[in-house]
Amino acid sequence: MSERERWASRIGLILAMAGNAIGLGNFLRFPRQAALNGGGAFMIPYFAALLLLGIPLMWVEWSIGRYGGRHGHGTAPGMFARMWRHPMAKYLGALGIAIPLCFVMYYTYIEGWTFAYACFSAVKQYWGIDTFTEMSRFLGEFQGKVDVSAGAHYFNGLGAALVFYLIALGINVWVLWFGVAKGIERLAKVAMPLLFLFATILVVRVIFLGTPDPAHPENTVAAGFGYLWNPDFTRLGSPSVWLAAAGQIFFTLSIGNASIHVYASYVRDDDDIALTGLTTSATNEFAEVILGGSIAIPVAVAFFGLAQTQQIAEAGSFDLGFAAMPLIFQKMGVLGPIYGLMWFGLLFFAGITSSVALAQPMVSFFQDEFQWPRKRAVALTGLAMASGGLPCVFFLKHGFLDEMDFWAGTFLLVVFAVIEVIIFAWVFGMEKGWAEINRGADIRLPRLVAFVIKYITPVYLIVLLGAWFWLDALPVLRLQGKPVADAPFLWAARLMILGWIATFMILTGVIWRRRHRKEGLL
Ligand code: PHE
Repeated sequence: MSERERWASRIGLILAMAGNAIGLGNFLRFPRQAALNGGGAFMIPYFAALLLLGIPLMWVEWSIGRYGGRHGHGTAPGMFARMWRHPMAKYLGALGIAIPLCFVMYYTYIEGWTFAYACFSAVKQYWGIDTFTEMSRFLGEFQGKVDVSAGAHYFNGLGAALVFYLIALGINVWVLWFGVAKGIERLAKVAMPLLFLFATILVVRVIFLGTPDPAHPENTVAAGFGYLWNPDFTRLGSPSVWLAAAGQIFFTLSIGNASIHVYASYVRDDDDIALTGLTTSATNEFAEVILGGSIAIPVAVAFFGLAQTQQIAEAGSFDLGFAAMPLIFQKMGVLGPIYGLMWFGLLFFAGITSSVALAQPMVSFFQDEFQWPRKRAVALTGLAMASGGLPCVFFLKHGFLDEMDFWAGTFLLVVFAVIEVIIFAWVFGMEKGWAEINRGADIRLPRLVAFVIKYITPVYLIVLLGAWFWLDALPVLRLQGKPVADAPFLWAARLMILGWIATFMILTGVIWRRRHRKEGLL
């Protein structure tokens, strides 16, 4: 077996793992989820999910990953097969390649928007558009969501969106091309400090905004923080708030899609994972709650007032970041384009350090199991990403991307987490699992953590999954409230996801027959 790659340094590993976790979710998804689900009260189910699901699963995933790496596996089929001597284990593991692949398909497209808007800000492309309606139209035409048959105002087709998508995809492939230490780790060492720098500058700028419109003294930054953080405890009675909080924790910590496993598989066998896993989680939470919570919402309230910000937040996931913010940059004087560049630049850095993590499982699968050279594995992964990314570009207006996001970015993550925690704590066994977590550890974890992982986390997940199925999945599955004309596109998205799951199961079966079974791996 050829020597597997390793991270070059501990700081590089931490930055790469933090880069994996810190993504669009921290700056676009979190503030909106918090604002819509009870504000400050949202932090109760949020921290419950962080402590009982997020951090325990983080340690589980790091452990599974490092354990697999010791045996030469960077992906879940090999990892699960080592931990559970049953022929089915490897097929369940195949989910750990299909889920991140389907996730990265649409994630890269959104990353393309951030790159596009960074350029638009720098050249003042949208300068002069001064109402929210018009700015939404700019975004809608860019995304091909608005019908332009009666005449386009800004974009008369998907050309620009397509070009920026291909640029984003190209940069991803380019980074992956150089491998884990020379590609991903080096990217993180440049992108993460810049991300923190840009975010800090923006937060400071926001805090000192005060009351930007003297005609509306009630519209202040403080009112913005109030909107985000004033608790509405009545919302805690609603299961959907608890689901939203758990969903956000999964999304933001990159849990449940085997991207942490693959990064952890490049850690040395006796290197600490207990403290490092905790550090990266804490870094992510800082970037999410402190930085992510202090930009888009407060600034929108200061400029638009409470009522309109609420409408904007409710309108959709991207209206705040891509329609409200560009209006605000224009009111920030000569430095406006620079602030715009920093905002979208930070989103792009947040995005790309996450998308390479989502693409790496497929790369590792072909490298480790099929023993392909890395560049060939990367090229195939790039093509696979495009196969699902292009339909996202062309069929966005039919809900293709949202459908992918529900299944690959929400639902399947919980399914995968249930599988891994049961294999880890119950099949592999909590005693061995606890030893794995603590081997080489730089901190002593309380024994309580083992109890949480064995009992609380699985029960929490199963309850969640049940409620989720009932409240969210069934209506989604039945296409409730969706236009009939979109049904073929939504079914195409589902079949594509199922198709990739089947493909990786078949490939897993093939390589086991050819290689692993001879070595005694079931
Ligand atoms: N955690 C990333 C975010 O917050 C998304 C992501 C999920 C990245 C899964 C990698 C793996 O945007």
